[in-house]
Amino acid sequence: MSISPAPALLPCAELHLHIEGTLEPELIFELAARNGITLPYADLAELRARYEFTDLQSFLDLYYANMEVLRTEADFADMTRSYLRRAAAAGVRHVEMMVDPQAHMLRGIPLQTCINGVAGVLADSLEEFGVSSELIAAFLRDRPVEEAEDVLRQLLALNAPIVGIGLDSAELGNPPEGFIELYRMAREAGLKCVAHAGEEGPSHYIEQALDLLLVDRIDHGVRCLDDSGLVDRLVRDRIPLTICPLSNVRLRSVDTLADHPLPQMLARGLNVSVNSDDPAYFGGYVDDNFRLLQATFDLSVDQLQELAVNSVEASFATPARRAELLEMISTWRTAQQAGS
Ligand code: ADE
Ligand code: ZN
Repeated sequence: MSISPAPALLPCAELHLHIEGTLEPELIFELAARNGITLPYADLAELRARYEFTDLQSFLDLYYANMEVLRTEADFADMTRSYLRRAAAAGVRHVEMMVDPQAHMLRGIPLQTCINGVAGVLADSLEEFGVSSELIAAFLRDRPVEEAEDVLRQLLALNAPIVGIGLDSAELGNPPEGFIELYRMAREAGLKCVAHAGEEGPSHYIEQALDLLLVDRIDHGVRCLDDSGLVDRLVRDRIPLTICPLSNVRLRSVDTLADHPLPQMLARGLNVSVNSDDPAYFGGYVDDNFRLLQATFDLSVDQLQELAVNSVEASFATPARRAELLEMISTWRTAQQAGS
């Protein structure tokens, strides 16, 4: 099979990214050594051998275990900096990054350590990497809701620089309906709201996230295709879905990338964007996702442009930054025409 040439770097916004999911194996070993932690893997090869997932939970087990190496503000800062460097090279020009403060607090790391480490680097991301950024505090849906509410109260008391909240971790059996009060608190505080829904869970979790949590966009949402009435609603109301193709393959939502419904979703008029989710675990960053989609589906310049424009339209960037991002995409489009 011949692989199509990679498209010139497409500028886009990355809206679905867990910063802890960017911990590359090399950095895990480096931080473990720095913090005097003995890892349960002898070397990189032994760690990498664990990256065969059967479902979301099998991934989450490793994801939470590897967080153990994050102990100090400098650890969180180094992880954030290495993601931004790689994302900039992938064409990302704006990122809305999720962090799991609750997961760190559960293992005894103070909230400030995690937030200051990540947010301190994000404060200079535009100047340093050419990537504007926002931070989203995600809450764990497989933990008691009161715990999440307590963490949100602490984030608000600290005046943490977050643009919104999210809901992640094990989806099946943990529907959005349990988190109504958490999302009410967030909205009242002026925060944006997103939630993972319809990744492994059924399509009615997407409806619950919209109707009960009043989210601004849905993370994943691929299972909406099981309900044509819901798809009609998502199209009509232009609800953004942050799609993560390589994640869906690695967590076995689809058998292969060729089975991924992204082209159908685009054709159906859904606002879908391309994101990397946990790139260190799922085989690639945003550019890898685009390159493999391109090789699999031979996406047209129009389709690539639409995906990038969708990402900007679905973002929480300021109107001025959105205009800049759209201009970058137009410039990319002109360069494509000149090169063809
Ligand atoms: N936490 C990190 N990555 C996740 C994913 N893909 N789904 C749910 N929770 C997550
Ligand atoms: Zn995710």
